[in-house]
Amino acid sequence: MPIPLLDLQRVHRPLLDQMVAAVRQVLESGQFILGPGVAAFEEAAASYLGVPHAIGVSSGTDALRATLSVLAMTGKKGTVLTTPYTFIATAEAISQAGLVPRFVDVDVHTGLLDLGALPDEPEDIVGIVPVHLFGQCVPMDPLMEYARARGMWVVEDSAQSFGATWKGVQSGAIGAAGCFSFFPSKNLGGAGDGGLVTTCDDELAKYVRASRAHGVLTRKYYSDFLSGNYRLDALQAAILSVKLPHIDEWNRARLKVADRYLELWEESGLLRKGLVRPLARVEGSSHVFHQYVVRVARRDVVAQALSRAGIACAVYYPAPLHVQDAFAYMGHEPEDFPASMELARTTLALPIFPGLTLAEQKEIVNCVATCLRVPESA
Ligand SMILES: Cc1ncc(COP(=O)(O)O)c(C=O)c1O
Repeated sequence: MPIPLLDLQRVHRPLLDQMVAAVRQVLESGQFILGPGVAAFEEAAASYLGVPHAIGVSSGTDALRATLSVLAMTGKKGTVLTTPYTFIATAEAISQAGLVPRFVDVDVHTGLLDLGALPDEPEDIVGIVPVHLFGQCVPMDPLMEYARARGMWVVEDSAQSFGATWKGVQSGAIGAAGCFSFFPSKNLGGAGDGGLVTTCDDELAKYVRASRAHGVLTRKYYSDFLSGNYRLDALQAAILSVKLPHIDEWNRARLKVADRYLELWEESGLLRKGLVRPLARVEGSSHVFHQYVVRVARRDVVAQALSRAGIACAVYYPAPLHVQDAFAYMGHEPEDFPASMELARTTLALPIFPGLTLAEQKEIVNCVATCLRVPESA
């Protein structure tokens, strides 16, 4: 049987009746955009995440775009630090908010922002967008300390880290704001696009809330500032409300799968020989394993062997942002960010989801082991 990267049917099956009933209720209500269903989900999400404000928006990209645009409008414009080893949305939203992205390399062991590479001279840097990549938090204590000492804000890109915590505090609840994605494949995913902005700042919340509906702060059909349409729809909120109570159980199941992979790599000898190196876990952060990513010898050969065996795998991300045409204007050379390049060349994401069986994991590990035992010239 083929093994997918993510089997959503397996995750959804026990909740299908509940989801259908929730969708039916929305259809019967005739209230499709925002409304009580979205408000109820926002309240539940705010309570889970431990923040006073959770604002439902149309995607993770729009969560970033709305938040960063408001910060650019209400504060100083300038440069914003982020990494090139992330999904395009992070730096794209910085640019589209009228801010200037500046890349900082990642730590080659974790794939997360390398705090040691942060610039000493703050110059015109106004903020930082750390990405809690693959499901674990960037070390937030030292990052917040760095930012506070220099008067910068921090907006957490929590698209991949719903439910992950830094020293017990939820990702997205630490910086000035957190931006989440409910893309269907995320740990908490909708049945379409969706996103969320979290913040403890009443003023920021007020403006982000307005920004999701054309900058209307108080009076209907009177815009206080230019923005766009970033609203969450009621069908997505209904699905997300059914799924939210299960997020901890699903995240625990993912962690168990990751722990089992580690045991299997050890047993296979691949770990000892350095042929497979899972990305390192960060002390102080919990890990919700949105993706299970390893650095692997002869990555492309292994990927081919897996797909021949019907086992899905993926490369996140094959081209760091600084080598993509969209950011060619920055004039970077590939090796300006060597850790990002190294990870782009050597990492492979393997199947991980609640319900992935031990037998399936053994099959995956055996396939990698068999492939790596074949001499390179074969
Ligand atoms: C790190 C990161 N940021 C932002 C986004 C954008 O989220 P969305 O696809 O919901 O717009 C994603 C989605 O894949 C992501 O992985």
